[in-house]
Amino acid sequence: MNPQVTPFFHAATSAWSYIVCDADGDAAAIIDPVLDFDPASGRVWAESASTLLQYLREHALEPKWILETHVHADHLTAAAWLKRRTGAQTAIGARVTEVQRTFKALLDLDDDFAPDGSQFDVLLEDGDTLPLGGLRIEAIATPGHTPDGVSYRIGDAVFIGDTLFGPALGSARCDFPGGDAATLFASVQKLYALPPETRVFLCHDYPKDGEAPRSQVTLAEQVCQNKHIVRDTTAEQFVAMRTARDATLSVPKLLWPALQVNIRAGNLPSATSSGRRFLKLPLNANEWE
Ligand SMILES: [Fe+2]
Repeated sequence: MNPQVTPFFHAATSAWSYIVCDADGDAAAIIDPVLDFDPASGRVWAESASTLLQYLREHALEPKWILETHVHADHLTAAAWLKRRTGAQTAIGARVTEVQRTFKALLDLDDDFAPDGSQFDVLLEDGDTLPLGGLRIEAIATPGHTPDGVSYRIGDAVFIGDTLFGPALGSARCDFPGGDAATLFASVQKLYALPPETRVFLCHDYPKDGEAPRSQVTLAEQVCQNKHIVRDTTAEQFVAMRTARDATLSVPKLLWPALQVNIRAGNLPSATSSGRRFLKLPLNANEWE
């Protein structure tokens, strides 16, 4: 059985969130929800996540899972906000612990932050499955952009996170800590082994002015037309291209705020004795190489 997929675009971060459901039942999964954040003022709000919640209520859907494709570096996750309001369980790739360890060290986080994945309800290994009404969610480990990258295959749909962008934009950067271009190449080969008619749902799109963002392409489009990696691209070609390109990229605008919230499964850092919460900004920590 194939799922019904509804995309939601968060324009400020060019990120796609999804609600996936079994058309015959009420079970739903939320994928990569976004928490609104203004870095200049420190204001955090939940307009985008409220839209998801409203959709779930209007369609009488019962959210079972909140799935993260990886620890995002370009937006904050609304997973915790939605979990508090729906009771849905959060899930992410088991290698989130590697991301947590790296950023706990870079951010000098206190011992009250355990880099053991315990902030999430479920840690997924390659091949693990989760039930979704009459559907089954299969986790496909797709590291390379980040170590914890997971693609979620549900019927004829696959949610690929930042393994690939759309065909015109290519692939995601591999220069974050724990990222690796050869590993991403191998992950893409796993996706390219899926049936060509597979519906591929993207994590981002960056359309040109006046164009609508795309949430969905077919696997055949990626295999034949992806700017960085088509069927006959070799690992050597891809790694050379990716490495050269990554050397030109600047740090994502929301990297530090996003990581601090996202490694906590969307919970904000603990309040200080004043009752206020703060994010850290490490100086020169981007020089990790
Ligand atoms: Fe990402």
